[in-house]
Amino acid sequence: MNEIQIKDKRFTVSIPEADILKEVDRVAAEINRDLAGKNPLFLSVLNGSFMFTADLMKRIIIPCEVSFVKLASYQGVTSTGKVKEVIGITEDLTDRTVVIVEDIVDTGLTMQRLLETLGTRRPKEIHIATLLVKPEKLKVDLNIEYVAIHIPNDFIVGYGLDYDGLGRNYKDIYTVINEE
Ligand code: IMP
Ligand code: MG
Repeated sequence: MNEIQIKDKRFTVSIPEADILKEVDRVAAEINRDLAGKNPLFLSVLNGSFMFTADLMKRIIIPCEVSFVKLASYQGVTSTGKVKEVIGITEDLTDRTVVIVEDIVDTGLTMQRLLETLGTRRPKEIHIATLLVKPEKLKVDLNIEYVAIHIPNDFIVGYGLDYDGLGRNYKDIYTVINEE
């Protein structure tokens, strides 16, 4: 299955599962090394990061906890329009080492919002682990310590990522085919 069709778009495999897992192995090893003894709390951002979170956590061998948050978009009253609210944090983050687990950092605005919100709960430190970064589109200055794969500025689906809700189930990552 090298090509898939989702609604009006065609996609072709760009990062096979084996290549993804090799980089997840590396990121997990870095986290095991850096955060040993800190009992990190991994906060996985649903929906997109569910597959990455599962594969990453299977490789984390230090004592740790995992929990899940979600970002609810609603039309805000600010001039920028869309405001995203972080929902589902039930843990006490005070003095904790927190690792945000994301599927993709694109402009970085979502991550910035997460950092702001979590920062108010007095964690000891916040680290970022993301499956993907689109460096060309980053708009804000973020210290992203753990990145599995840097990708070009093309739209992708699979391995948790969606196009209009579809495509999250594929084990490989697919890039949109732009028909001229
Ligand atoms: P940011 O706030 O611009 O960094 O956007 C992050 C969010 O945009 C991600 O959590 C995804 O939900 C979505 N996103 C960005 N690029 C893609 C893509 O290529 N495919 C699917 N979703 C994407
Ligand atoms: Mg996401």
